[in-house]
Amino acid sequence: MRESIRDSLITALHDTKGYLSGEVISNRLGVSRTAVWKQVQRLKKEGYHILTVRRKGYRLLSSPRDLFEGEISRLLETSLLGRDIRLYKELASTNAKAIELARDSEIREGTFVIANLQRGGKGRLGRHWLSLPGGLWASGILRPGILPQQAPLVTFAAAVAITRAIREMTNLEVSIKWPNDIFYNGRKLGGILSEIESEAANIHFLVLGFGLNVNIRMSKFPQPLRAQATSVYRELKKEISLNVLFVKILKQLESLYELIQDKQFESILDSWKEYNCTLGEQVSVALPDGSEATGVALDVNQSGALMLKTVNGQIKTITSGDLSIVQVAA
Ligand code: BTN
Repeated sequence: MRESIRDSLITALHDTKGYLSGEVISNRLGVSRTAVWKQVQRLKKEGYHILTVRRKGYRLLSSPRDLFEGEISRLLETSLLGRDIRLYKELASTNAKAIELARDSEIREGTFVIANLQRGGKGRLGRHWLSLPGGLWASGILRPGILPQQAPLVTFAAAVAITRAIREMTNLEVSIKWPNDIFYNGRKLGGILSEIESEAANIHFLVLGFGLNVNIRMSKFPQPLRAQATSVYRELKKEISLNVLFVKILKQLESLYELIQDKQFESILDSWKEYNCTLGEQVSVALPDGSEATGVALDVNQSGALMLKTVNGQIKTITSGDLSIVQVAA
């Protein structure tokens, strides 16, 4: 990504603890002092808190919490994921946009489409996914060298990456509900939707989409969702930087993705099990055909399917469904 004047200015301000004079910036960036001043005014409008003091210059006090490409590329520690970022103010769905881009074979692996708001967010099992401003709505284009039936492992890896990143940044002990809901205290904080285009034994591309309720007030959710959903804001009572969270997720995901490319699937499953809140529980799964399966969630198999032990001792393998943990009366 070519650094624009705007990005170079942000970098310069970030890298300086105190004030940076207009003259130094204009020399460094090779633009006039008026151009620097204009850029600073623009950044202030975007939410950067910059102090301007005569004879001293500019000092960055805080960065905006909303998504910004310059902030993401400044923070990025990955070599594959997020090296190309496509940020949109608003989209129908980041997954749909990423699929459209991935069909153009020129697009680089690891490209991420992100949006401040989605009007037609896609959820699992054909559902709509509410995507309000303040959330993290992102879809990455991947070309894993694995079989199509192994694709759920990429989604598992993403659930682990998200869990680790949120825990690291917020100390909230989030966990994973099968297959890949990000859960906190019995409420859904986020979800993941992978979509693939493949032939029999070859994945052309996989779009990995994840959505997280981050800086969203519960009052913004429609009433029926208020009892089931949560957001980082609800739990922490403060906003966090979407840019920082995003790059932390990408960093975690990149190392897990390398394991997938090395076919170390067991290691992904082990990490997923470490954070899951499903195994060992009495559960009920609403299946796509409208029926329901109940029993004890025993394990997940090599491709991420749930092994359910029913009351008559039968083991059912469930590849897809909506799982609820049954609260057993004490
Ligand atoms: C679920 O139902 O739990 C999965 C939700 C996945 C939502 C994300 S938001 C970003 C990406 N774009 C979409 O349209 N959906 C996914």
